[in-house]
Amino acid sequence: MRIVATVAALRQALTDARLAGKRIGLVPTMGYLHDGHLELVRASRAQCDVTVLSIFVNPTQFGANEDLSTYPRDLERDEQMCRDAGVSILFAPNVQEIYPACFDTYVVPGELARPLCGAHRPGHFRGVATVVCKLFNMVQPDVAFFGQKDFQQGAVVRRMTLDLNLPIEVVMVPTVREPDGLAMSSRNRYLGEDERRRALAISRGLSAALDAFRGGERDAGRLVALAREHVESIGQIQYLDLVDCDTLNPVVGLVHRPAALCVAAYVGSTRLIDNVILTPPDP
Ligand code: PAF
Repeated sequence: MRIVATVAALRQALTDARLAGKRIGLVPTMGYLHDGHLELVRASRAQCDVTVLSIFVNPTQFGANEDLSTYPRDLERDEQMCRDAGVSILFAPNVQEIYPACFDTYVVPGELARPLCGAHRPGHFRGVATVVCKLFNMVQPDVAFFGQKDFQQGAVVRRMTLDLNLPIEVVMVPTVREPDGLAMSSRNRYLGEDERRRALAISRGLSAALDAFRGGERDAGRLVALAREHVESIGQIQYLDLVDCDTLNPVVGLVHRPAALCVAAYVGSTRLIDNVILTPPDP
């Protein structure tokens, strides 16, 4: 595995692969890796010859009162996990490399960035779209892999690649869960023992709605209410919405197209997100 910290070294490391016509996969991350990230690496290795994993805690996607300074970091551990997982190139730049002093250009997503997390984290998706666009230009991968846990992020990134004509396939990989159902997230490490237990209400609520949907329930209001019954026990729901998978508009009435039931909730001071996709069977 090559470890590079600059764009120049990254491009150098990719030259041979590109000349040889190898298929390049990118797994963008903010580090503190877990099995959800490794699942993205596995998906990349299954489809690509070369896998680049980037680790960069991107300051522009954090709000002023968010956890940028405390976001968990452990580069040594991440390096070992990348080696063991068969990553070809680990790209771990510092902030100056990505945002030099005169940096002044951003990618601003539109409607898809407005609801859900976008409504509660102003500027978040502008930061995500900007850094992902830059990473896409630095690596120039054939395929990029994102976790479904960040469903809206995947939708925003996919829209951006289409709108800006970036020749990159965006793949969303299903969420990896702990054995008890909690969606894997680097932020789970903030949870105390009791909070960790209470956090399970999120996945329980989503799977109750999914079970009801599979059992034939199609009423959006009832599906949301079912999930809410569980998630409410945590205390503070930020949003719990059933949205159309393509437009992210709220589903009103019956679900007859793929829809995402998305939740953000605080467990203590930790904000967790999760979702399930409800796909009606073909008629
Ligand atoms: O999902 C993440 O970890 C980040 O939002 C990403 C895509 C690496 C951009 O910083």
